[in-house]
Amino acid sequence: MSALLELQNISVSIGSAQLLDGVSLRLERGQTLGLVGESGSGKSLTAMAAMGLLPLIGGHVSDGSVRFDGQDLASLNDTQRRALRGRRIGFVTQNPMTALDPVQRIGAQIDVVSRLHLGLTKQAARARTIDLLTQLRIPEAQAVAEAWPHQLSGGMKQRIVIAMALTGDPELIIADEPTTALDVTVQAQIIQILAGLVREKGVALLLITHDMGVVAQICDRVAVLYAGRLAEEGPVAPIFAAPQHPYTTALINCIPQEGMARGTLRGIPGAVPSARQYPSGCRFHPRCTRATADCAALTPPLITRGDGQAACLHLPEVAL
Ligand SMILES: Nc1ncnc2c1ncn2[C@@H]1O[C@H](COP(=O)(O)OP(=O)(O)O)[C@@H](O)[C@H]1O
Ligand SMILES: [Mg+2]
Repeated sequence: MSALLELQNISVSIGSAQLLDGVSLRLERGQTLGLVGESGSGKSLTAMAAMGLLPLIGGHVSDGSVRFDGQDLASLNDTQRRALRGRRIGFVTQNPMTALDPVQRIGAQIDVVSRLHLGLTKQAARARTIDLLTQLRIPEAQAVAEAWPHQLSGGMKQRIVIAMALTGDPELIIADEPTTALDVTVQAQIIQILAGLVREKGVALLLITHDMGVVAQICDRVAVLYAGRLAEEGPVAPIFAAPQHPYTTALINCIPQEGMARGTLRGIPGAVPSARQYPSGCRFHPRCTRATADCAALTPPLITRGDGQAACLHLPEVAL
């Protein structure tokens, strides 16, 4: 059976800039895939490609293919692609404020999604809205449906966005840094809600985050992006036990350890290069403490090991 979502070797360009280069991902039904990397690595562009939304920002898939449930998105027309989003693919954005209309009551905003995608009557749509809010453990669902967005806390607003993403009863939820705009105390609640949807409803989750701690907690697989390329990909357990790519190791080392004071998060020295100045060879080599002459000169191959862990590097410890 085909994967629910499969990106095969995709490259993405906006104008003359090639922003993603040969990215492959596979997400099975009911599974959670973490997509990680520092800011500017290409995570959001990958999500846009998966939803067929690149044209909105003037971009396109210049090579490779994006398949949802076996269907190549490039073979669908605009109407078919729109039907996919919201109905079979739910999207949760980084900032709930941008996803909610400030001048419409909460319930009306959710109702309209099920009327559009499921063709429900006004009453049936409202009943579904209340049901979804209740499933997301929102207390006093009736009152919340009558509220305006500004009356709710950030965490509550993000639950509303998740409810909207669930309205079409999707098979896939793409959540792009869903907790970044929230207080630390509610971040864990939102992650637990998303993990619960996978467990209880069997949806697949593509979770974009820069937090490897969250990936270790709830993901089945993880894909590590750096400067528009895949650095490493595979099942979570072997990657955390023995990361092959020095960039993966660096991200894992950024997870705050228990007992460590807040604010002592260890960053990775240097910065992600901009798309106009990608280094030669392995794009991480200027920041890598283990880089060799090969790393600067040659684009490394993606090598898959027996356990499904694939890494893109020259280092000799990648044992087959
Ligand atoms: N609309 C755009 N036009 C030009 N460059 C863009 C655009 N969107 C993103 N980029 C560039 O593509 C790269 C990846 O961006 P993005 O996918 O947003 O990264 P992430 O989500 O991992 O932070 C960055 O170098 C960014 O500057
Ligand atoms: Mg992003």
